Amino acid sequence: MQSFPLAEWTVRSISLYMSQSVLDALLSRASTDQLVEPAPAGNQLARILSAGLRAPDHGRLRPWRYTVITGAYRESFASQFYEALLRQSPDMPEANRLRRRERMRTMPAIIALGFHAQPEAKIPVVEQEMALAAGAMNVLNALHVEGFGGVWVTGAFQKDRSFLENLGLPAPHRLEGLLLIGTPSGDIPKKRRPDIESYMALWQGKPVSFAADEG
Ligand SMILES: Cc1cc2nc3c(=O)[nH]c(=O)nc-3n(C[C@H](O)[C@H](O)[C@H](O)COP(=O)(O)O)c2cc1C
Repeated sequence: MQSFPLAEWTVRSISLYMSQSVLDALLSRASTDQLVEPAPAGNQLARILSAGLRAPDHGRLRPWRYTVITGAYRESFASQFYEALLRQSPDMPEANRLRRRERMRTMPAIIALGFHAQPEAKIPVVEQEMALAAGAMNVLNALHVEGFGGVWVTGAFQKDRSFLENLGLPAPHRLEGLLLIGTPSGDIPKKRRPDIESYMALWQGKPVSFAADEG
């Protein structure tokens, strides 16, 4: 078949350019809960959550269950969240619980990170959980790439069975946290990030050490 060097170069340089910008996006992601409307919805949200289903998944157990909370339903979600905290963290100061309820009520959208654990499967549950977490990371990155933002939060509410059941997560499902999502209200926070030099080592047949572990 006849080759077209110019066309090949164009395709390659476009994909190089694309991969560069995708890497830039990965490197610039930062969590934020300073979020305003809009949150992604419809097909765009479906595509973002589909990125979660591209995570590595040993044994194809497909542990991801995403419960989406938006619009007027945030009000009753926030109340149920508050009740769960009341049951699971009775010692938490009331002002703290109320602040958390308000946060849930006012977030543009919330994704409950359901985990369909399969303790009877050959694949250890910890590996299933890693697939769940890798999916959540993909969703956070996909949000960022599409111009949205979010943060992953956890807490005592995760242990509350009746709260979980209402989210479609009866045992043996678990809740691995909530992604609070929306549009960042300002610039993505510029955080100090560690240098990779401290966290990588080129192995040359002898034991290596990491600067991150020194001192
Ligand atoms: C499993 C998990 C649970 C987390 N739970 C909380 C939480 O409850 N509250 C919180 O402020 N940050 C929590 N974080 C950390 C934030 O999601 C976020 O990663 C952190 O603020 C650092 O921001 P960065 O993602 O920009 O580095 C959690 C992170 C993970 C991976």
